Amino acid sequence: MVDSVMGRVDDLLRQAFAAAGLPTEAVRSVPASKPEFGDFQCNAAMALGKAAKRNPRDIAAAVAEILRASPEFAAVDVAGPGFLNLRLADAFVTARARAQAASPDLGIVRRDDPPVLIDFGGPNVAKPLHVGHLRSLVIGEALSRIFAAQGVAVTTDIHLGDWGLQMGMLIAAIRRAHPERAPGTVGEAVTVDEMQRLYPEASAACKAEPERMAEARALTAALQSGDPQAFADWSALRATSLADQRHDIDRLGTRFDLFLGESDAQAIVDTLVPNLVARGLAYESDGALVIDVAEGSDAKPLPPLILAKSDGAATYGTTDLATIAGRATDPALARCGRYVYVVDERQSLHFNQVFRAARRCGIAPGVDLVHVGFGTVNGVDGKPYRTREGGVARLRDLLAEAVDKARGRIETDDPAIDRDVLAEQVGLAAVKWADLSTLRLSGYSFNLDRMMSFEGNTGPYIQYACVRIGAIGAKADAAGLRPSAIALGHPAERALAMACLRLPVAVAAATAGYAPNEIADLAFAVAQAFSRFYAECPVLNAEDEEARAARLALCGLAHAVLSKALWMLGIAVPQRM
Ligand code: ARG
Repeated sequence: MVDSVMGRVDDLLRQAFAAAGLPTEAVRSVPASKPEFGDFQCNAAMALGKAAKRNPRDIAAAVAEILRASPEFAAVDVAGPGFLNLRLADAFVTARARAQAASPDLGIVRRDDPPVLIDFGGPNVAKPLHVGHLRSLVIGEALSRIFAAQGVAVTTDIHLGDWGLQMGMLIAAIRRAHPERAPGTVGEAVTVDEMQRLYPEASAACKAEPERMAEARALTAALQSGDPQAFADWSALRATSLADQRHDIDRLGTRFDLFLGESDAQAIVDTLVPNLVARGLAYESDGALVIDVAEGSDAKPLPPLILAKSDGAATYGTTDLATIAGRATDPALARCGRYVYVVDERQSLHFNQVFRAARRCGIAPGVDLVHVGFGTVNGVDGKPYRTREGGVARLRDLLAEAVDKARGRIETDDPAIDRDVLAEQVGLAAVKWADLSTLRLSGYSFNLDRMMSFEGNTGPYIQYACVRIGAIGAKADAAGLRPSAIALGHPAERALAMACLRLPVAVAAATAGYAPNEIADLAFAVAQAFSRFYAECPVLNAEDEEARAARLALCGLAHAVLSKALWMLGIAVPQRM
């Protein structure tokens, strides 16, 4: 294990502040705002000076004096009212870069967290995946890999929306469309296309005609109470729909361990709800069954969680609560320390209510429940993305468009490159990068032309940087040239090593904030540092054998770091491009 450079700097800073007789809780470094200030700066002397009624410059000077004795630093300067500017010694950076290159985990610190369950995707059955599913599928997969990269066991569950009124509507509609078939044998006769056509029709008809709605409700109730024919039709529809959705999920490279859904919570609902009523936690209010979740500290009290509507049908909240109860008693998930829900931020009230209800009812007591929300994918108009015709954009069409666009941009005439494979890798990289490099809670506009550019902060640019570094190594290999140990002479070499050394910090930040953009930022910094290095420092044509071997070693580290970062983001690295 290699602890991070920033961690070491902070340790040294804290020791120095302590030695100068000052508290250390607020002491930390930040990357220098300008290269001429060195590598890191620390602003703690100002706040501490105020509290201790001492001149911050004197504090900074005393701390600097102590730090100068550490071989880790080449220069420690006091600037302005009491800023500390720190420049690391080249020998220290070199040693750290060598250690990182030799570490199988590239210095990423292993966490001993209990296993994590990630609930994401969550598509409703009977509908194709649409643009709204993109973020959950991409962010959920990235988070699962970020945890895995630190040695944390992860279980992923898609939590299909497969149990509500929409299923009753659909079953009723297909039975109407196939009067020649007996109930229970209709589902198996329906194709995806037919289902996807019938569903919106059925939903509109139920809104317009009370009888259709009554029929749908009756079928939903029949399904939820175990009617064998309703169940048979439902199972067939679910299987057909899921097979179709899996096509897009697999194409995205998203992997689920569990394909459970709301339906799997029914058995738990049946025992949980009466139990909550018996314990007085759930009570009747205006004909509905509710749990209070308001807390004294609420600025605006949270409305109660509705467990059952007046018609007795279980709700979205009930199934989520029961699912938590089910997970907590599932022996395969018994050791999980947290359940993470990667779902649109617009559902934050729902999760807040469900999590509070779980706490109040003593469900999954030792488990952290976390909603990881995200902003919407928007059109260029800044409103949630729609097709040109104004409809909901299918994920499949969006991905196809991205891949087509990528194919059009491939300029290579290298016969060893399979253009279809490459177009797929580049198109998906463009889409995933645009999503993952944005702050999770911000929306972003889906602009394929911009995402697909080979310049700037884009997936294809990062992929290309990674492939280019890999090609240098491969060329050297073929010519029998071996890397030696990393040595840092040129400033561009040092800057590249410093960028690589940020990996463990980026992974820790990505984990703490459920923020894949931290990994994207790191990858972009490494790619940029590499571009500069490559322009200023010849590798294969280096001035001498020694410089070449050391640069090959540095290229090896940069390639490993970029590959790891792209892996965590679920972005493929093409063999050549
Ligand atoms: N099916 C839900 C929807 O379409 C999303 C499910 C999210 N996951 C969950 N455990 N509630 O809105």
